[in-house]
Amino acid sequence: MIGSPVQFRDVTKVFGETVALKAFNLDVASGEFVTLLGASGSGKSTALNILAGFSDATSGDVFIDNKSMAGVPSERRNVGMVFQSFALFPHLTVADNVAYPLKMRRCPSDEIKRKVGEALELVQLSALAGRKPMALSGGQRQRVALARAVVFEPPVLLMDECLSALDLKLREELQREIRSIQRNLGVTVVFVTHDQTEALTMSDRIAILEGGKIVQIDTPERLYDRPRTRFVADFIGQSNTFDIVPGPNGTVGVPDLGVDIPLHGNAVAIALRPERLRLVDGPARPGEIVFDGHVEDETFFGPVVARSVRLRTGRLLEIRSARSGHGLEPAPVGPISLGFYPADVAPLAAD
Ligand SMILES: Nc1ncnc2c1ncn2[C@@H]1O[C@H](COP(=O)(O)OP(=O)(O)O)[C@@H](O)[C@H]1O
Ligand SMILES: [Mg+2]
Repeated sequence: MIGSPVQFRDVTKVFGETVALKAFNLDVASGEFVTLLGASGSGKSTALNILAGFSDATSGDVFIDNKSMAGVPSERRNVGMVFQSFALFPHLTVADNVAYPLKMRRCPSDEIKRKVGEALELVQLSALAGRKPMALSGGQRQRVALARAVVFEPPVLLMDECLSALDLKLREELQREIRSIQRNLGVTVVFVTHDQTEALTMSDRIAILEGGKIVQIDTPERLYDRPRTRFVADFIGQSNTFDIVPGPNGTVGVPDLGVDIPLHGNAVAIALRPERLRLVDGPARPGEIVFDGHVEDETFFGPVVARSVRLRTGRLLEIRSARSGHGLEPAPVGPISLGFYPADVAPLAAD
């Protein structure tokens, strides 16, 4: 496939007073797994529904395999779709549910039999082919929905919060399975979630939505290490963000920390991840920038301990340290020194 199999071009969607999507643009490459991540109401489902043809754009257009989808009905768009609610036919068996899209497409019955068999094998449900949805667990029903979405081999698969109703262990298991199925089939996926961990672990790229617009789209690593704005820094993971002031040649001052750091460009603030801050109990390491604070509180998370540190300006900062047993364990409260490297600083642009 040449070009982007999925494109949004300046798509705007208005519901009465609400602008659900604002000149929304997105290009998804062939075989790519792109996640739309955003708070409730940010426009994620609206974008998927327009792509699937369940809803029309107020203006703008979506393209699948370089063809405009304007006026193309949903059933002719060749996209598979999995929703949060299982939406299976209760009176049909697992096999008949999965066969449904093939029957709609008037596939010959021997081909239906073979493809349904393959799809059920893919989601490890061959043994339950004769059951009705009522007799399945939530995870099994979602597997049936997944098999039904891929059975007609659509080049594009859309998933809207499809794991949100499942409990954590099962969700993690299905996350891995979906990713492995997606790689095996080479299908292009647009995945929707409000769960940042799910987005970080599954995606090739993540688009952060706010108010019907993408505020940043990047690989998970890049989004986490280089959030572009305060909003993204706060939305993905924990972040300490600080105001900055102009400093001498090529530096900025960070009043809360009482230090100058080398920084070029037109950042308006900086972000520091809690786990990038090192407890310093001896001389600073080469290049390390050190400041003082006062531990006020600690929270035990199992593998990590989070500590609230009061800074000279009165502000609180959070640090997180792995409990490897090799590092310094400071007293639960009291004075400490913390260090970080300039390379760990994310410069933030104005929102
Ligand atoms: N059918 C509709 N009628 C009116 N408003 C809607 C409709 N669908 C969505 N909206 C509004 O559009 C915005 C985006 O909704 P949605 O795309 O469902 O968000 P998300 O999936 O990110 O939670 C919300 O403000 C929502 O209330
Ligand atoms: Mg939604």
